[in-house]
Amino acid sequence: MAEVARRAFVIGHPIAHSRSPMIHGHWLKTLGLDGSYRAIDVAPQDLGAFLSSLAECGFAGGNVTIPHKEAAFAAVGRCDEAAEAIGAINTLWFEDGILCGGNTDAYGFAANLDARAPGWAANGPAVVLGAGGAARAVVHALKARGVADIRIANRTLARAESLAARFGAGISAHASGALADLLGDAGLLVNTTSLGMQGKEGGGDLPADPALLPAHALVTDIVYVPLETPLLAAARRRGLKTVDGLGMLLHQAVPGFERWFGHRPQVTAELRALIVADLGG
Ligand code: ATR
Repeated sequence: MAEVARRAFVIGHPIAHSRSPMIHGHWLKTLGLDGSYRAIDVAPQDLGAFLSSLAECGFAGGNVTIPHKEAAFAAVGRCDEAAEAIGAINTLWFEDGILCGGNTDAYGFAANLDARAPGWAANGPAVVLGAGGAARAVVHALKARGVADIRIANRTLARAESLAARFGAGISAHASGALADLLGDAGLLVNTTSLGMQGKEGGGDLPADPALLPAHALVTDIVYVPLETPLLAAARRRGLKTVDGLGMLLHQAVPGFERWFGHRPQVTAELRALIVADLGG
C-alpha cells in the first residue's frame, strides 16, 4: 500500500510573515519526501475548534506561533519537559491518538549557539535582556546547559522577578537600570526583547551597551530582522564574538519536522541563504 502523504502546518494570527513554510518546504524537497506544510491563520477564538479538528483533517501535527503558544499549551493532552517548564508550546504532534505539545525554542536557542560558538555554556555568567515568553525559553535552555549564574534584566522588574522565581536557584532578577553592574564579568549576553527589531518601537535602540562586557563575552540576539541588530553591530565593532538569531529559528524547526515526516533534517548554509535572501539580505 502506498504511504499516505503526511501533512503539517503552522498556525498563528497573523501568519503571513512566517518563514516556517519555506524552511519545511525546503527540507521536504531536498529530502525528496511526499508531504506538505502550510501556514494557516487561526484567530484566537477559533483555536479550540482548530485543535479539535486536527486528527480528522489528517494532520500529523504542526507549529504554533504568536499568539497561541500559551493557549495551545493549556489545550494539549500531554507535554514534553521543556513545554512544562516554559509554559508554552510551539510544536504539536499525536502519540497514541493523544494531541501532544512540545517546546523546541529552548532547543533551537542552544543548538544555534552549539553550531556557532561551541563551548558557549562554559563562558561564565549569562545576562538575559527581557522577561517575556522568549526569555522563558532562553532561561530554560541556559539552566538545562548548566549555566550557574543567570541574570535577568528587564524594563519591568516585577516580570523579571516572576521569571526568576519560576526557574529557581542560580537566577537573579534586575531592573534594566542595573545593567552596568551586571555586564562587567558576564560571559554571555542574550537579547530577547524587541529592541533592535525592524519596524518596532525601539527598532534602532541598543538594549544594553556591549562595551561594558569583558573581551571574551559572546553576544547573541533572538531578533533576526535585521540579521545584524544594533546590539550585534555594536558588539562586533568592539571585537566581541556575536551570533545572530536566524539560526535559532532554523534549529527550532528540526525536532518538529522529524516527528511529522520521520527524517531528521539538517540546518545547512543553503537553507540559511534561502531565508536570508527572503528577508531581503
Ligand atoms: P516575547 O514573547 O517575544 O518575549 P513579550 O512577552 O511581549 O514577547 O516580552 C517582550 C519583552 O521585551 C519584555 O521583556 C518587554 O519588557 P516589559 O516586560 O517591561 O514590557 C521587552 N520590551 C518590549 N519593548 C521594550 C522597550 N521599548 N524597552 C524595553 N523593553 C522592551
